[in-house]
Amino acid sequence: MISLMVFNKRRGPILGRHPWVFSGALKHIPDGLASGTPVKLVDENNHFLAQGYFNSYSQIAVRLWSWDEDEEINEDFFIRRIESANNLRVNYIASKKTDSYRLINSENDLLPGLIVDKYADYLSVQFHTIGMEQWKDQIVSALVKIIKPKGIYERSDAKKLSREKGSGIIVSKTEENNLLHGKMPDKIIILENGLKFYVDIKGGQKTGFFLDQREKREALIKYVKGKNVLNCFSYTGGFSVYALSAGAKKVVSVDVSEPALELARQNVELNGFDLKKCEFIAEDVKRYLQDLGDTKYERYEITKDSESGQFDVIILDPPAFVKDRKKIREGLLGYRRINEQALQILPDNGILVSASCSAHVSLDDFRFMLSESAGHTGRTLQILETYIHGIDHPELVAFMEGEYLKCVFGRVR
Ligand SMILES: C[S@@+](CC[C@H](N)C(=O)[O-])C[C@H]1O[C@@H](n2cnc3c(N)ncnc32)[C@H](O)[C@@H]1O
Repeated sequence: MISLMVFNKRRGPILGRHPWVFSGALKHIPDGLASGTPVKLVDENNHFLAQGYFNSYSQIAVRLWSWDEDEEINEDFFIRRIESANNLRVNYIASKKTDSYRLINSENDLLPGLIVDKYADYLSVQFHTIGMEQWKDQIVSALVKIIKPKGIYERSDAKKLSREKGSGIIVSKTEENNLLHGKMPDKIIILENGLKFYVDIKGGQKTGFFLDQREKREALIKYVKGKNVLNCFSYTGGFSVYALSAGAKKVVSVDVSEPALELARQNVELNGFDLKKCEFIAEDVKRYLQDLGDTKYERYEITKDSESGQFDVIILDPPAFVKDRKKIREGLLGYRRINEQALQILPDNGILVSASCSAHVSLDDFRFMLSESAGHTGRTLQILETYIHGIDHPELVAFMEGEYLKCVFGRVR
């Protein structure tokens, strides 16, 4: 295996098991080294540090997947990694009530650049790097052996991969190309905490469903009985269905995506809940909240009498507003705007559930943004619960960059 030398002064994070090595940490990169090539990293004294794969198109030149010098990289390696990841989920998540979870969480399961989500008997797969894509055949073969799925479908982000290649050429694949194993129905039914959801693996957002909010959806249950709930950025109605299961009086789901709202409506029906309690609104959330704040409700009237307020619980689960580290300030303003809008509308004792899935926004940044939003709107916000990822999204302790999700439950006074 090819060895790459790391400057001694840059070896600390590698020893601390951080999975990324930037090109500037390497003394020399041989010409023509292909993406996906397994490499060993050694320090300037030739002492072994770690193993990973080279990724020529990225600033992150090596992604680490082993700190064991003797580990060989072949199909057995992928089998061992997938078995270990699978054991974690089978031991702590899978049950008669939950058959869907993230099976492989990239760097955090020591398979950098690979995401695999399990939806009932099917798998949805994303290759985020050219380097990991090179191992597709071995990975699919290992998944088939261990999980025995009825189908495996690829949902790699073509734009992301082409940006990585630096070519700018987006190769759009056909459904046939994306089917890596077995068959894939247009819509499947999954079980999460005993609730049923339709998932469109082929056409839905990301890999089909936002599995990362499972614990937060479950946590919502205690706050919604007999309440009016506004689910902003609802997608296919995950939080809405949980709210209905817990006896919410009314649930309004707002999202710009009509197909997502259609699936949300079907998900309510699938669980046998009353559609008359629900509204599905295809609109920009900022505009919707603006209209609510401007025209319908005057905050001080609402705070006097919580019954007069339209919503007792507001959920904000937007897409990532900060996609680029250099644009954190702008992105945080986006979060502040919607949080201020929600805080203005909520009555005394109202519950705000506010999430961010921007990896560049830390939990501290997010909390500070919430305190600014509360300050600007003259509300007092008590944090009741704080969440990051669930067990199926484990985090390597050194890998702060991997902590993308944060979610705060707060009470408004
Ligand atoms: C992170 S997902 C929400 C996941 C959802 N909470 C769940 O549990 O499945 C973000 C959603 O925001 C929607 N969206 C993006 N921009 C929007 C906007 N400006 N207004 C309304 N919805 C938007 C997307 O269509 C997507 O469904």
